[in-house]
Amino acid sequence: MAKDQKGNGAAPAGSGYTYVDHKFDVVVVGAGGSGLRATLGMAEQGLKTACITKVFPTRSHTVAAQGGIAASLSNMGPDSWQWHMYDTVKGSDWLGDMDAMEYMVKQAPAAVYELEHYGVPFSRTEEGKIYQRPFGGHMMNYGDGPPVQRTCAAADRTGHAILHTLYGQSLKHNAQFFIEYFALDLIMSDDGVCTGVVAWNLDDGTIHRFSAKMVVLATGGYGRAYFSATSAHTCTGDGGGMVARAGLPLQDMEFVQFHPTGIYGSGCLITEGARGEGGYLVNSEGERFMERYAPSAKDLASRDVVSRCMTLEIREGRGVGKNKDHIFLHLDHLDPAVLHERLPGISESAKIFAGVDVTREPIPVLPTVHYNMGGIPTNYWGEVLNPTKDNPDRVSPGLMAVGEAGCASVHGANRLGSNSLIDLVVFGRAAAIRAGEVIDRAAPIPPINEKSVEKIMARFDRLRNANGGTPTAVLREKMQKIMQEDAAVFRTQESLAQGCKRMSALWSELKDVKVFDRSMIWNSDLVETLELENLMANAIPTVYGAEARKESRGAHAREDFSSRDDAGWRKHTLAHVAEDGKVTLSYRPVHTEPLAREEDGGISLAKIAPKARVY
Ligand code: FUM
Repeated sequence: MAKDQKGNGAAPAGSGYTYVDHKFDVVVVGAGGSGLRATLGMAEQGLKTACITKVFPTRSHTVAAQGGIAASLSNMGPDSWQWHMYDTVKGSDWLGDMDAMEYMVKQAPAAVYELEHYGVPFSRTEEGKIYQRPFGGHMMNYGDGPPVQRTCAAADRTGHAILHTLYGQSLKHNAQFFIEYFALDLIMSDDGVCTGVVAWNLDDGTIHRFSAKMVVLATGGYGRAYFSATSAHTCTGDGGGMVARAGLPLQDMEFVQFHPTGIYGSGCLITEGARGEGGYLVNSEGERFMERYAPSAKDLASRDVVSRCMTLEIREGRGVGKNKDHIFLHLDHLDPAVLHERLPGISESAKIFAGVDVTREPIPVLPTVHYNMGGIPTNYWGEVLNPTKDNPDRVSPGLMAVGEAGCASVHGANRLGSNSLIDLVVFGRAAAIRAGEVIDRAAPIPPINEKSVEKIMARFDRLRNANGGTPTAVLREKMQKIMQEDAAVFRTQESLAQGCKRMSALWSELKDVKVFDRSMIWNSDLVETLELENLMANAIPTVYGAEARKESRGAHAREDFSSRDDAGWRKHTLAHVAEDGKVTLSYRPVHTEPLAREEDGGISLAKIAPKARVY
């Protein structure tokens, strides 16, 4: 019934919706760095490509990426892809897949030069080369040397520069954008092939059915499952939610990255580039405590390490401020010209969000949720995996995932700073290359599976008409507090078991949600409710996966199992989330073989064999 599309009256459950249908070769969901790079790559090959996005493309969360994009260009000193690979393997605490990591670091220099040619305005050296700064965990000489300058930067607005450039290029290649459309769910065929997606046009209330030969999820992370995060409010794990509802697993969700320097209070990001340019952390005694914990890399140790050290300093009574509950980041010793040229964005953020003039005072900072290493399992071509016991690398046809939504897995248990932007563009491009190979251009676009659409719209209708007793915001805050308290920087059996219990109870409470607004146009109450269900589908396997993993690895730091256990736990967690919130865990092996053998110019297996992780 068309009248229900735009009116304010409630549509009867399960009926009353008419559809606008579309046919594309490829539909990309999400317009951040990976979504736009995939969209551009698909459109460049002449594939009819749609990009659906819930926010205007240049407002996607990649816009907030500050410090830069890692690639071994060697513009500022010696570097190599092998060093970059070693650092990435070590950063991942040996959980990353070697083939994916090798693919990323080898492709990285070409991917950055490609961005340069597309028009990204990188900062420059005196000689006019792309400027590169040091970043945490990136070292010379297989971890032995001093920090390497590997992170290519456009001041401290690198993501902003990349996003605007990729959007312009995608438009140039005639990709079609569906802006401010909220993707509801994947259309699946009866035999498990993804054949499209249903989306709601927030601006006019219409429902759109997109049929496609390939759907690419580029929906970003789920940082907003936590109370304090550097992530945008739009980072609600929408792709993970869709995948879980399609009966597919999520991978390694227990690994959640805390960035050492979120501004105390607001959680806004202060780039690691600030420490790359010479900034340092101090405790209440004025001590540069990182020298004690990481004598070699100091403030440029890996993020998980720095976040833990900060937390320990606070716990042991050496935090700063009235409540001794945060740490100071000093930039005031740096040349104001450097701050102006290299760190203008964070200088402004510190002023606005902490009331601090960085040329004179330290910035109050605290570890803040920043990134999800886990996500939708994929191979290094971006193809989504639906593993079985016999085939842990089985591809789920018609579906890809890239960027923070996906888990290739290049970051393993902990991501190095500036390896995210390179992941976005390398794997966005890889997905486009692969889609060009596997899509049969002569084949018809798959038909709509009406049964699948009915199920999607029944859920939509249930939430639109939800008339329980608890507002969405109340349930969301409960979830954020549970995650913040029970799945934090340090974890114990007690905190995690409590987290599982509280999250399962909260899942049951979702039935009592109250949506006040029944309209179809700019119904932010309903959008937030759909987002809450997506967040919950990501958050619950995070806490269950963490409870089950009886070791410490990367960002997963258990006080009761403080060592890494390679014999027992060097494996990926897979989590299926059922409709009733039940989480079923299984495991798949880590890919321990790199792509190239040593005799063919590859990295030596001895170099990347697991060992103690010290910085
Ligand atoms: O600190 C930063 O600029 C963040 C970079 C990243 O997460 O890669």
